[in-house]
This record gives sequence, C-alpha cells and structure tokens, in this order.
Amino acid sequence: MTKTINGFSKLSKKEKIQWLTTHFSQNAAEAERVLGSWQHSDDSVQKVIDGFTENAISNYTLPYSIAPNFLINGVEYAVPMVIEESSVVAAASSAAKFWQERGGFHAEIVGTVKLGQVHFYWPGNPDTLRALFPELKARLLESSRDLTANMEQRGGGILDIELLDFESVEPDYFQLRASFETCNSMGANFINSVLERFADTLEDFFTDYPGLADEERDVEVIMAILSNYTPLCRVRAWVECPIQSFADLARSQGMDADTLARRFQRAVRIAQIDPYRATTHNKGIYNGIDAVVLATGNDFRAIEACGHTYAGRDGQYRSLSSCTLSNGLLRFELEVALAMGTVGGLTALHPLAKLSLELLGNPSAEELMCITAAVGLAQNFAAVRSLITTGIQQGHMKMHLTNILNHLGASEEEAAAAQFYFQNQTVSFSAVRSFLLEKRS
Ligand code: MEV
Repeated sequence: MTKTINGFSKLSKKEKIQWLTTHFSQNAAEAERVLGSWQHSDDSVQKVIDGFTENAISNYTLPYSIAPNFLINGVEYAVPMVIEESSVVAAASSAAKFWQERGGFHAEIVGTVKLGQVHFYWPGNPDTLRALFPELKARLLESSRDLTANMEQRGGGILDIELLDFESVEPDYFQLRASFETCNSMGANFINSVLERFADTLEDFFTDYPGLADEERDVEVIMAILSNYTPLCRVRAWVECPIQSFADLARSQGMDADTLARRFQRAVRIAQIDPYRATTHNKGIYNGIDAVVLATGNDFRAIEACGHTYAGRDGQYRSLSSCTLSNGLLRFELEVALAMGTVGGLTALHPLAKLSLELLGNPSAEELMCITAAVGLAQNFAAVRSLITTGIQQGHMKMHLTNILNHLGASEEEAAAAQFYFQNQTVSFSAVRSFLLEKRS
C-alpha cells in the first residue's frame, strides 16, 4: 500500500490523524489516544494554536517554568522559561539569587538596527550602476512609502540602503543592503515586504531607465530577504563584584576566593581560544536565552543563528562571554547580537507568550533583550561555576533523578525515599533502578 498522499492539508484534523496512524503507527489506537490527549481543553485556544502551522494534529508540551529573583538594571523579575533540560531553570534561579545579593545584572542596548538584502546579478559596468544608485535609491524609498508609513509613525522605518559590489568574488553579483529600525517588533514581515517591493522596483528601474544598452536592462533579482545576522542589533549584559565576595562559595569548595575567580576567568578564556569548548560554552548561554525566547513567543532559530554567526565574527568561533579580574573585582560580561520583539508574531497570539510578557511587565523589545541577555549570562555563570568546582553532573543528575524515577514508574513514596537516599549518592540510571528493585523486594 502506498504511503503517498495528495491534499493531506485539506483533510480535517481527525482524518489526518486516522491516515497517519493507519499508515505509520504500530499501534494506531494508542497513537490516536496520545495525540487526542494533548489537545487543549478549550476549543478556542486550540483553534489559535492549530492556526500557527500547517497540518497541526496535536500539541507538544514543554514545561513552562519560572526563575525568580532576577535583579536586572535595578528591577526585580520572575522570568518565564520554556525548556526541557532538567537543570537549566534551577541553575538560572541559583545564579539569579547569587547575583541579586551582589548588585544584580546590568544590561544595555548597543544598537537595534536590523538588516535585509536584495541579491541581484547585473551584467553592466559597475561604474554605471554606482552612478545610477542615488537615483535608484530615491526610487526604492519612494516605492515603499505605503509599506513604511505605519512603522515611521512608531518611530522606525528604513534607515539606509547601500549598494554592495561582490564582483571580485562572483561576476555580476551585487547586493542592496538595507538597514531598518523596527521598534518593538522583530520586524521580519515588515522587512521582507519592503525588500520584495525593492526587488520589483529594481527590475522596473532598469527596464524603464532611458538610454541604457539592452544588456544593462538585464537585471536578475535572485532573492530578497532579511538577514538574521544583526550585528548592529546587540545587547551587553554584565555582573561585577569584589572577588572576595566569592569567599563563602570558594570555601565550600575547599579553595580561596582568588583561586575560584582565577579558575572562572581561565574557564571563560579557554572558551575564547578553543572553538570546541566555545560551542559548548555558548550552548550553555543559549540554554538561558532560548528558554526566554520560547516563553515570549520569539523566534529561537533566528536568534541562535544570529548569535553563533556573531560568535564567529573574527573568523574563529569564540565565547560570547568574557571575564576580567582587575582591582580586586571580577567582571563577567556577555555581548550578543539578539533581535527580539514584544509585538507582532506569536507574542500576542500564544496565550502563554502573552502572559510571559505581562509577567515581565510588558517590556519594550529593548528591555526584553536586556532581560534575555541577563538570563543567558546567569546560565553561563552557573554552568562555568559548576564546571570549575563540582562538575556539572552532580547538579544535573540531581534534577534528572525525577525523570529517571518517572521513567521507572516509581510511586510517590518510592520517589520520596529515592530523593532522600540520593542526596548523598551519585545518581545514575542503574543506581536508581537498583535502589527501586531493592526497595520493592
Ligand atoms: C549543558 O546543557 C550546558 C553546559 O555544557 C554548558 C557549559 O559546558 O558551559 C553545562
């Protein structure tokens, strides 16, 4: 029996599920039960969620958690985080508390400029193109007035359009690179609409321009799309405190504060030197950033792609954070390209994204960028602190214990006994299984 189908998207949700489970599931009844059990109980909410993508047949649930005690630029936040990894929220919360007692997190916006490109091939003389560009630019701006009017009223719009010449690497290849201010929206739809208008205007310009040779009318637009790399849309977050204020933490690990600070600084330095370590180090930062990005209905793929490109901006992939020790102070800083929005997209549509923004005090996009960067820095701090002291498995496996107990079907009583027993024991799947077997026998 063929498994090819035409018009799958036209089927009702029930028909989609039936077709899917009949053709692809070992146990159709069980698959239907699972898919059905994750539908939202409120039909109107489910309708909104189904509207997000094509062919939605159920909902995929992740924990919605809160990391309290974040003090950022003097404001207290309880930060919503959506993430599945056991220890992330615990680590963020612990770092938030640690820094709350040391002046909290500081954050500032370095810039908010977004970028978009029209990639085109033009077979004429580059000097002619350069000479025509001021006129072309005026036409591009004029042709997009209807699209930019609203954004301009909100204080944004097109900032500039540049002509870039890539002829030295690819014959006839040029680019319009436009910069935008999109205020509180991430701005993808606005930017892409404007760029597509630019593409049409560009073609018309060369078709209509008087006195051009035939071949000079032959412009070929390949594509018009925003760039998710926004090095000029950037935020800096940092914490700073006297090295001696690490004394208690250091003592609990059998070292002094200077040693702990030096080990911390070296761990961050290693992530600046070695891309293998930098990748894992930055992954720890994105444990925090992505969780806030998801909780607030922002685009985590765009934000990750951008951050990783930024991490490789000098030709080698490096740590996004840095640490300095000077005059008895430790300063730990994260600077990252990060484009977020608080209006548009899913922000008002997804009930939990909307709630997240409300819980954060309905921040502007700039404030949300500051909060998110602070959480990324907190996560990075917690990870590196564990790595240079106990190692991460201790905290990670403590949190993972609940997953193992659930997996092994532990009762509440067994789980409580296990939580107590494993306070002073190394957690592993086999150790927990042995513990339960012994208890059950
Ligand atoms: C685990 O999800 C993240 C860490 O590996 C980050 C790091 O190594 O810095 C702990």
